[in-house]
Amino acid sequence: LAPPLLDAQGRRMTYLRLSVTDRCNFRCTYCSPASWGGKKDLLSALEFERIVSVFASMGIQRVRLTGGEPLIRPDILEIAQRLSALPGVERVAITTNASHLERLAVPLREAGVSQLNISLDTLSAETFRRISKQGDFASTLRGIDAAAAAGFASLKLNVVVMRGVNDGEAAALVEYAHARGLTPRFIELMPFGQGEPVPTAELIERLQASGLPLAEELVEERTRVSTSGPARYWRAPGGLVGFISPLTQNFCGGCNRVRVASNGDLRSCLGGRAQAPLHQLIRGGASDTELALAIRQALGDKPEGHRFTETGNAATLLPMMGIGG
Ligand code: GTP
Ligand code: 5AD
Ligand code: SF4
Repeated sequence: LAPPLLDAQGRRMTYLRLSVTDRCNFRCTYCSPASWGGKKDLLSALEFERIVSVFASMGIQRVRLTGGEPLIRPDILEIAQRLSALPGVERVAITTNASHLERLAVPLREAGVSQLNISLDTLSAETFRRISKQGDFASTLRGIDAAAAAGFASLKLNVVVMRGVNDGEAAALVEYAHARGLTPRFIELMPFGQGEPVPTAELIERLQASGLPLAEELVEERTRVSTSGPARYWRAPGGLVGFISPLTQNFCGGCNRVRVASNGDLRSCLGGRAQAPLHQLIRGGASDTELALAIRQALGDKPEGHRFTETGNAATLLPMMGIGG
């Protein structure tokens, strides 16, 4: 096995976020510009398998498939099967908008996917339409119920909180998630699209004021539930409640992540630029050793962290839809 994948700060990369498509059947205001057309140069299932096998030889243990919406890829089951069968890959997870889960929850489970993070920002059909533009609310809710019944090891509900849009629904979303065995997580809006963020501390105060007793963050639970990711977990009567606070808590010091986009571009930070064009290298006949070298070089350049709170930085970012969160 090759030596572990370290960046210039000595952080060890163990978690790969693979965007399998930059297209989506929704157009959420915080994620996709109206004009987003998507790129054509998508990696095939075999090419993803090759890239992940190289990452796995350097110590990547967990792979999360993102998008766009990953489940619109016709070969998503083949991708999941191939990746979960690779030596060294302990866990394949997916982040999805749930709209295709009614049909795919059980087949994904059978293809080796053990965890799903599901995005749902509201329980109101009207607000759902306002946020997602073209999403179908009824099939999304049916998809969540199908996932809840399919026997996944972990199910989480991601809520991006926007002032004046869905920030009054947090308590209801906690109840909705816990009733179905999902862990709700509230995310501070990052500057990739429209909307005003709500700081986590304010949201926690509002949840407590609405009568939800939230106990102090539990460190053991944090390690048990999360994948040493950015979420921090608190305890409520019905289960855990997570908060992801890129704007008000700095979690970059513990970062273990690297990203590959659907066109094969490696990006060592969510807030950074594309670094190594892995697809071009594959097409040019690069060996596994050459791919590994390109990956190592890119990680040597990984920024210390995102700079979302610095003014003027947002304009330089690729839309979230093209990175996969
Ligand atoms: P787990 O593996 O379950 O911990 O998932 P996750 O929270 O890392 O992934 P998910 O796709 O559910 O993303 C939830 C939110 O966290 C999204 O808003 C992501 O953009 C954000 N997120 C995930 N990883 C990072 C990261 O490394 N940096 C920042 N700034 N945000 C991240
Ligand atoms: N800020 C925070 N989270 C976002 N997501 C998409 N766009 C943003 C943003 N601007 C979330 C989605 C999904 C995950 C992949 O990223 O809701 O749950
Ligand atoms: Fe890691 Fe960059 Fe995310 Fe910070 S913003 S946690 S450095 S990927």
